[in-house]
Amino acid sequence: MVDRRQHWESVYGNKAVDEVSWFQQHAASSLRLIKDCADANAHIIDVGGGASVLVDGLLDAGYRNLTVLDLAESALAASLKRLGARAQSVQWIAGDITQVELPAAHYDVWHDRAVFHFLTDPADRARYVAQVLKSVKPGGHVIVAAFGSGGPLQCSGLDVVRYTPDGLHAEFGAPFRLLGHETEIHHTPTGKEQEFVYCYCVRA
Ligand SMILES: C[S@@+](CC[C@H](N)C(=O)[O-])C[C@H]1O[C@@H](n2cnc3c(N)ncnc32)[C@H](O)[C@@H]1O
Repeated sequence: MVDRRQHWESVYGNKAVDEVSWFQQHAASSLRLIKDCADANAHIIDVGGGASVLVDGLLDAGYRNLTVLDLAESALAASLKRLGARAQSVQWIAGDITQVELPAAHYDVWHDRAVFHFLTDPADRARYVAQVLKSVKPGGHVIVAAFGSGGPLQCSGLDVVRYTPDGLHAEFGAPFRLLGHETEIHHTPTGKEQEFVYCYCVRA
């Protein structure tokens, strides 16, 4: 069995960053949701950020304390190259979110688009939620976008778990208060539609 990291390295090795199904020219919904809850001093982590341009949008908007974490170093390398000198102000972490050591009570915003839904093992989901509880400050915000109940069953050859807003919130449980949710239809580069649900919560 190919391990997780190898799988994602080979995905990024075989396709251009604008050919992968989750590619977005602009991370508009994520950017709007973050701007709604965080000022420029906020410490923000994009978990499984891959080669997403969310970090570009956040830098453009004046955010200064940014971290991008991903399992695939090749995805982070693509963002580093795209950003050039601007990449130096961002903290880049190559690691598995279920295992990596994160600082305690550090982040004001935790953002994840299309990563949590790959955790099909409940033990991995529990480890992920424990990371959020540890590293997000009390009063911090958690924005997670996953495939909705009408979304695909697989992505990038891997099974996913699809969520209703309540189902996604239930994974995080009582320490997180659901502030709202929205649905987005993502159009893949090959013209397919994918239903995403974005949930945003505040950590007690
Ligand atoms: C579908 S892509 C989404 C990328 C990005 N969030 C976006 O919206 O463009 C999933 C990303 O999560 C990363 N990933 C998958 N499992 C991970 C894990 N356990 N820990 C950290 N990153 C992971 C992959 O390398 C990939 O970059």
